[in-house]
Amino acid sequence: MDVADGLTIRVPGDKSITQRALILGAMAAGESRIGAAPRAADPVATALALRGLGVPIDGLDGPATTPLRIGGVGLRGWQQPRSPLDLRNSGTGARLLAGALAAQPLPVVLSGDESLSRRPMGRIAAPLRRMGATVEYLGRDGVLPMRVTGGALRTIRHDGSVASAQVKSAILLAAVGAGVPVEVREPRRSRDHSERMLEAMGVRVREGWRDGAWAVRIDEPPARLAPLQMDVPGDFSSAAFFLAWAALAGTRPLTIRDVGLNATRTGLLPVLARMGAEVEAVGGGAAGGEPAGDLLVGAPGSGLRGVEVGGGEVTGMIDEIPVLAVLAARADGETRITGAAELRVKESDRLAALAVNLRRIGVDVEELPDGLVIEGTRRPLAGRVECFHDHRIAMAFGVLSGAPDCDILVDDPGVADVSFPGFWRLLARLTDEAGGPEHLPSAARRSGRAPGEPARSTVVAIDGSAGAGKSTTAAAVASRLGFRHLDSGAIYRAVTLGLMDSEVGSEAVERVTPDELEALAVEVRWTDAGMGIRIRGKPVPEKALRAERVTAMVSRVSAVPAVRDHLLELQRAAVRPPGLVAEGRDMGTVVFPAADVKVYLDADPRERARRRILQRGESDPTPEEIEAEAARLGMRDRTDSSRKVAPLLMAADAHLINTTGMKPRSQTDAIVKLAIRAACGRQPSRRSGESD
Ligand code: DC
Repeated sequence: MDVADGLTIRVPGDKSITQRALILGAMAAGESRIGAAPRAADPVATALALRGLGVPIDGLDGPATTPLRIGGVGLRGWQQPRSPLDLRNSGTGARLLAGALAAQPLPVVLSGDESLSRRPMGRIAAPLRRMGATVEYLGRDGVLPMRVTGGALRTIRHDGSVASAQVKSAILLAAVGAGVPVEVREPRRSRDHSERMLEAMGVRVREGWRDGAWAVRIDEPPARLAPLQMDVPGDFSSAAFFLAWAALAGTRPLTIRDVGLNATRTGLLPVLARMGAEVEAVGGGAAGGEPAGDLLVGAPGSGLRGVEVGGGEVTGMIDEIPVLAVLAARADGETRITGAAELRVKESDRLAALAVNLRRIGVDVEELPDGLVIEGTRRPLAGRVECFHDHRIAMAFGVLSGAPDCDILVDDPGVADVSFPGFWRLLARLTDEAGGPEHLPSAARRSGRAPGEPARSTVVAIDGSAGAGKSTTAAAVASRLGFRHLDSGAIYRAVTLGLMDSEVGSEAVERVTPDELEALAVEVRWTDAGMGIRIRGKPVPEKALRAERVTAMVSRVSAVPAVRDHLLELQRAAVRPPGLVAEGRDMGTVVFPAADVKVYLDADPRERARRRILQRGESDPTPEEIEAEAARLGMRDRTDSSRKVAPLLMAADAHLINTTGMKPRSQTDAIVKLAIRAACGRQPSRRSGESD
């Protein structure tokens, strides 16, 4: 690969290694010095917890270039903290600390944020209890908060049913802390950062395959751990996002400097090569027992290919499955990922989060109990992605948002800070440097708002004549964007039904008074299933709304000014973040004149008539039936467009889409794209009237 005109970046230090260095440094005899330690949320949470245990840690407030100095207090020198230790979102911190605490004769409460408090702790509590520690759940069973009371421990052999580096490390730390031999077996080889660091600190660790399992043994734990002197290598899992970006969007080769190349972490590299990307790892040196070097990646000339990934391979790339999934969305053919059930108990249920979001942007995906089947596509992708408080979901789709023909809005970009502060800046820089006419200003695309800015609503108004495809399109757009879908026609239908069945009756609808309308008590309720309408407190069934007698009457009712006035605020009240797709006849002109996107759908009258007939569930209509329906629609259109109030009109700033012969999916794609661009293009709101 010729990297002469390539791009070069660095990524933050590995937090998995940093967290171990902090905890083991705190157990060492004397001061450890850890360079290039990232000040990301997870390691900071662990460092603060260690301070709570009486371990001095200097340099935490400085930049990553300032080394951390950890005043190790020896194997069992931690002190009783004054309050519970809050590990926030750090699963590694909570589980490894629980292990180390099992050897300390102190009752210590560990807690975490809402997301961490949902993740399973039973898998570490069970072996620690077998060793002799007391682990009590203070809330729900099996999750944080929990109290660990350690002491003298027994030696055990642990046979794990899942490969988990956190479980393995917790047991190893407990054994080293208590000075007892231990053996941990796992079905597959999980990451070995703890083993390497223990070795670097003077612990003899034996490992190898035994009876079909990977066995890690410490036979003679030493009485003291030597302090650490190391620089943390770049986080391979962070680098992986930019490897993927280069494979998807790069126009020039990309070099990522000083990345950790521990073989238990780099499982993505051979998979990328199978997909057709050009990747090279150039070994440099080792730090704290960890191999490191530069990664070089070039975009595949002929695009990516789908792959099968499963079995043992997944363990070495468990954190990279989100980024593999977005690569798969842009690869030719199918990608099948199996053996990844573990992803369901990460920061989010990552398999579900990936499936939901890939579908939202227009990718076909099947969710398996332990994986995903993704059908790659070259069609433009667009939609709003929900992060579920998960940094890797945010960054994976962020990478995709930086690729050509992808209009993707990440709803909560700030979550990336958990492991990669500066991710969006770096992505924007690279995307801009890579250039190319198909790239939008990249920084604008990641979110409609700056971190911390309150959520705003994007309104998409879809108007058009009957049968132009409004409902199907509006529903699909709303689902892709995670927005509400307001079907204003249904509200006019409900009012029509209510008036027909009231004292007003069909004859006098034109003379209906505001009081009579008030008496209908029209309500719009929102549930996960969508919009529901109530009249006089009773839900109106969809079937009743579509009844022939209502359809015949609704144009008359909706032409009554008092009716339109009465329903105005009700419709406007449907707006809420992240947004609303409002569908009807006067959405862009009267109800939401300031809508972010206005679309006017139209189609050939016969095509509209045919769609209406098929929509009613009748089979293949004859030409005569189509003519008759087209005439009925024509009449309704004329009434709707010629009425005095809120006639069916195309707003001056609306996009006209003629849907004749168009697939619903292309209409949806086009509108979602407009919505994303509108949401991203907006400047942060300014307070008006201030003179500074
Ligand atoms: O979209 P639909 O067929 O369900 O609409 C029923 C009637 O309601 C339609 O004939 C026109 C009227 N309508 C309206 O006047 N203004 C709206 N915003 C939506 C519908």
